[in-house]
Amino acid sequence: MAQDSDTLRTQQYHNASRLTARATLHARFSTNPTRWFTWLFDRFQAPANSDVLELGCGPGWLWLSNRERIPADWQITLTDFSEGMLTEAQQNLAFVSHPFTFAVADVQAIPYPNDSFGMVIANHMLYHAPDIPAALAEIRRVLKTGGRFYASTLAGDYMREFEQFLPRRRPAHLSFNLDNGAELLAAQFEHVTLHRYDNTLVVTEAEPLIAYLVSMTPQSAIELQERIYRDVAPLVLRHLEEHSEMRLTASSGLFETW
Ligand SMILES: C[S@@+](CC[C@H](N)C(=O)[O-])C[C@H]1O[C@@H](n2cnc3c(N)ncnc32)[C@H](O)[C@@H]1O
Repeated sequence: MAQDSDTLRTQQYHNASRLTARATLHARFSTNPTRWFTWLFDRFQAPANSDVLELGCGPGWLWLSNRERIPADWQITLTDFSEGMLTEAQQNLAFVSHPFTFAVADVQAIPYPNDSFGMVIANHMLYHAPDIPAALAEIRRVLKTGGRFYASTLAGDYMREFEQFLPRRRPAHLSFNLDNGAELLAAQFEHVTLHRYDNTLVVTEAEPLIAYLVSMTPQSAIELQERIYRDVAPLVLRHLEEHSEMRLTASSGLFETW
């Protein structure tokens, strides 16, 4: 469900617990043999001695998952607009030998001078920006000429099969997804390439799916959460009893731009 920036910062991403429910569903039931953060890291091409900026870094999973192969000459700055997320990133990366700099930053007002970074990363976060063209202009501003910007997001038909279980029609599509991302990026970047990560979830248990759905609601939306347990959970359980699994399209991808 669509949430404004304040709700996102203070409830949805106050800490990593809601994001963890979503990551757990993917970790347990994804069928793509390559893990997402490994696949992502494989695609990055940074100039030597790069200053790297990650926006909306969350709990720092990208770096934790790839800790053994972070190039020694990357100077990495991790940012998020949620202080709680940054604290978790700091804790998660405390024992990774590579040094990191941490800072609170909103993607629409990046607190660094023009031409500061050789590589900027925004994983599954641009669709939260209230004004995506403004966020992209900020990213362009802090990126050095010739630097690379990487933005990952979900496919437009992400988990479409789940709609039949929801009481209401699905809310509007993500504002930045694999279908419309190239057009939005083209306003700031001359070259835009899409790398697709095809994936299907084959879910065999109701509980992680319901936890996923609850994680999409704001913490304070108690009534909505009750409705999920009361109305949606029995439908999911019945489907699993009859079919023993639920297959959900869960593709995502990465735009590479320069
Ligand atoms: C779906 S999570 C992705 C976290 C991480 N990039 C990952 O892939 O695991 C979205 C993250 O973006 C952050 N975020 C949302 N809106 C933001 C904004 N306007 N500026 C900076 N960070 C933002 C959230 O706090 C959250 O940590």
